[in-house]
Amino acid sequence: MDLLTIENLNYTYNDGSLPVLEDINLNFEEGKVYAIMGKSGAGKTTLLSLISGLNSYKEGKILYKGSDIKTLDKENYRSRDIGIIFQSFNLLLHLNALENVMLSINLSKTKVENKKKHALNMLEKVELTEEKAKRRVLKLSGGEQQRVAIARALSYDPALIIADEPTGNLDGETEEQVLKILRNLAHVDNKCIIVVTHSEKVAMSSGIVYRL
Ligand SMILES: Nc1ncnc2c1ncn2[C@@H]1O[C@H](COP(=O)(O)OP(=O)(O)OP(=O)(O)O)[C@@H](O)[C@H]1O
Ligand SMILES: [Mg+2]
Repeated sequence: MDLLTIENLNYTYNDGSLPVLEDINLNFEEGKVYAIMGKSGAGKTTLLSLISGLNSYKEGKILYKGSDIKTLDKENYRSRDIGIIFQSFNLLLHLNALENVMLSINLSKTKVENKKKHALNMLEKVELTEEKAKRRVLKLSGGEQQRVAIARALSYDPALIIADEPTGNLDGETEEQVLKILRNLAHVDNKCIIVVTHSEKVAMSSGIVYRL
């Protein structure tokens, strides 16, 4: 069964402009990495904002495990089922990596026995040592910050992880490292990963490519 199904989705911003998304039909399963491509302005970020419940649609359907996300408790959906990784990371720069991940565990009200240990485990998963975990995010490299953002999205074990240009600011080698982590999340941990990208290399490393 699909984890996420998009059916006949149309979307127009409320400012009377032209439709951004027209009759979109896509499906996403667990254990796979999907790339969403398309030229600038094609509506990729808009689509992610609809999938993540940040914007709401009037026409068509987005089904999560078979239920229209409109009928789901938005707060639960956004803080437990879906992990979001922004291009700009959206980390709190004056906190350290560990504190950023712990904050997300607290916000999602995830029940784990030892929050600090859990957060350190997530950071270890993205290959950040305890020494790095305790450094202010401001003093980490771009690739390291991106991995903190991934660890934060993982902290509450969401089934679906969406990322908008997660490697847009990274050099080739660091990009490959981040892609490997995302692929492992799909292939080892059975997550569904959706990555918006302009990069053919990222698309090639994903299992399935959708073009808007
Ligand atoms: N809040 C908004 N209000 C009105 N129009 C918007 C808004 N956000 C985006 N748009 C318009 O919707 C269209 C799609 O934008 P979107 O950000 O989804 O594109 P994108 O595919 O992510 O592009 P890029 O590759 O440049 O990030 C664009 O024409 C954009 O100008
Ligand atoms: Mg965009």
